[in-house]
Amino acid sequence: MLMAELANASILAELTLEEKVGLTSGLDFWRTKPVENQKVPSIQVSDGPHGLRKPLEGGDALGLSGSVPATCFPPAVGLAASWNPELARRVGAAVGQEARAQAISVVLGPGVNIKRSPLCGRNFEYFSEDPCQSALMATGWIKGAQAQGVGASVKHFAVNNQETDRLRISADVDDRTLREIYLAAFEYIIKEAAPLTVMSSYNKINGTYASENHWLLTEVLRDEWGFDGVVVSDWGAVNDRVAAVAAGLDLKMPAPTGDEDVVAAVKAGLLPEAIIDQAADRILTLVARTTNNLPPSNPIDADAHQQLAREVAAECAVLLKNEANTLPLDPAAGSIAIIGELARTPRYQGAGSSKVNPTAVEDALTAIRADIPDIPFAPGYNLDDSQDPQMLAQARELAGDADRVVLFLGLPDSHESEGFDRSDMSLPAVQLQVLKAVVAANPNVTVVLSNGSLVSMEWRDTVPAILESWLLGQAGGQAIADLLFGRSNPSGRMTETIPLDLKDNPSYLNFPGEHQHVLYGERIFVGYRFYDTTAIPVAYPFGHGLSYTDFMYSGLTVEKRDQGADVSFTVTNSGDRAGAEVAQVYVRDIECSVSRPIHELKGFAKTFLEKGESQRITISLDERAFSFWSTQDQQWRIEAGDFEIRVGASSRDLRLTQVITHEGDGVVQVLNAMSVVGEWLEHPVGGPALSDELKAVTGTETPFDTKSGIGRMIAGTPLIKIGGFIPGLDPSRVNELVALVNKSDQE
Ligand code: BGC
Repeated sequence: MLMAELANASILAELTLEEKVGLTSGLDFWRTKPVENQKVPSIQVSDGPHGLRKPLEGGDALGLSGSVPATCFPPAVGLAASWNPELARRVGAAVGQEARAQAISVVLGPGVNIKRSPLCGRNFEYFSEDPCQSALMATGWIKGAQAQGVGASVKHFAVNNQETDRLRISADVDDRTLREIYLAAFEYIIKEAAPLTVMSSYNKINGTYASENHWLLTEVLRDEWGFDGVVVSDWGAVNDRVAAVAAGLDLKMPAPTGDEDVVAAVKAGLLPEAIIDQAADRILTLVARTTNNLPPSNPIDADAHQQLAREVAAECAVLLKNEANTLPLDPAAGSIAIIGELARTPRYQGAGSSKVNPTAVEDALTAIRADIPDIPFAPGYNLDDSQDPQMLAQARELAGDADRVVLFLGLPDSHESEGFDRSDMSLPAVQLQVLKAVVAANPNVTVVLSNGSLVSMEWRDTVPAILESWLLGQAGGQAIADLLFGRSNPSGRMTETIPLDLKDNPSYLNFPGEHQHVLYGERIFVGYRFYDTTAIPVAYPFGHGLSYTDFMYSGLTVEKRDQGADVSFTVTNSGDRAGAEVAQVYVRDIECSVSRPIHELKGFAKTFLEKGESQRITISLDERAFSFWSTQDQQWRIEAGDFEIRVGASSRDLRLTQVITHEGDGVVQVLNAMSVVGEWLEHPVGGPALSDELKAVTGTETPFDTKSGIGRMIAGTPLIKIGGFIPGLDPSRVNELVALVNKSDQE
């Protein structure tokens, strides 16, 4: 036994059943219970993760009355668009330091739910429509935070992809889609980043609440993935306390209700006491991990964190469009007008439990005025979406008088939040009116967008430049000014696809469900996996983002290694200024027995290059990069055959490709009497055995051609059924063949 286990065991031995059960629910809204006489302290958790949200001392339980000031970094929607896991690590470290300074032991994040629909009200808290992108970014953040001695809580486990009816909805998803899309980021993170806690979600999965789901919390999370931390419920997610404990939920948050039900269940012999011991033991381990032998906690350097927030923000914005080098703006090349209330009143984070009380907020207008003090400004619209003809007229006039316009548009707070979903992707009508009027007065318009989830872009052809700046945290204003004037070079990339129309989104017909069920009918074809497979036109593809410089790709080599491969190539900055490229590696399974997306992201690297500089990049793919989840075999499978490695600047801008042959995982299909003849003939033992058999009963060497005509029909027929067509192959003989093949499988 390790020292920690010994210590826990001796503490637990001294506790009554009631005290042990007590450890598995919160002391209050944010704290665990102490064990006074054993010197086990209470620890406090706090929301995040783009900044700390520690409720004020003496404030209300929910923290609605405010929280301690903290640096507000870009929320996940922005951070993810940087495609820079190292930057995410630095943000995690900064948030971790602020948490340590406030005696917070666990920060409740990051959220890694997949952006299934652009309408999800919490998309601003999530990373991507792709599990690989989400996993690598979140891993960076978690490693950074946990290196400070603070635990992370990866959430919301699992399949929490909408806010509508979030406390009751059942996400009805097939097992392959669960594994490949909705659990994949969690799996990677558990194995690579070892978060100290996992937060179970509010919703049901296929009819069972996540917090009461033994398959999810114990069989998959612990037994398969090896998670050894604490599973904490989302706040108020537990409905049946006994079922939750039995499923593997260690800490029910927030308040200590339901303990008596658990005690009664143990006393009635309905719940083994060993399960309580296990959960209590994990809580003690969490307390020890976040209080003993911690790295030193350094004083917070607020200026350094502000500077980091600015640096991060500049990497998050995505330059969607830049015709005729509209950007960067040269102040000397004519007059510029700034239009749009969001330039003056920035929207820099989302609403709900993650809302941070920022230490300082920079708005773009003030930052731009540091460059051009007398730059004219008109608000154009109100953030409450009300019409104001005077404001509209003023914006039109200002636009007409200037040589160039920078127009700030976006989603006001009321449009997106935790707790509800949007019903459409449009910008507010009042803002679209301003856009139309401004463009009519002056077509030289750069649109700067602020939004936490996708907005539709039916207007994109009317303007020459679009900078999608998401929600950029408290230092976003300065970052936007730096990007507009070219002091920073845009290097953000899309982490989701912008469809031409909401109706094109694959979840469209099944979002947000009805009667407390939402069917994930699009299965694995989420985001670009759908758009690219069907080659449907989109506004901007996954991975897209422009720069003020250009990049060239060359020299692709793919070296196979075990079941994976090392993909190497060179990226060159061929333009006239320094910049960063996000090189993306996609894998295409050229032929497979199950339907697969045309390609899937399996790795990426962000590289910073001086003008003219080249860098050789190697991205290692493991066996999972080639696998699919086999529902039939209930395991990950790689089928032998050709795979195309695709390297490029977006899912639709692939610059280099190479086909490699994978020898497969060697797993042989288990045959039975209902296996079709084609499956039999492909089997290493069943194939020759059946060929011999067919030769014997028909007397011909090649009884039929499985590729055409009647032979093809037979190939698709279960062996047991062909006895009627091929005399001699009666059911008893088929069963003998099955026994023969299975015997050889076992040997
Ligand atoms: C949210 C969580 C959050 C928790 C505590 C819940 O409503 O879903 O993300 O961590 O509240 O504030």
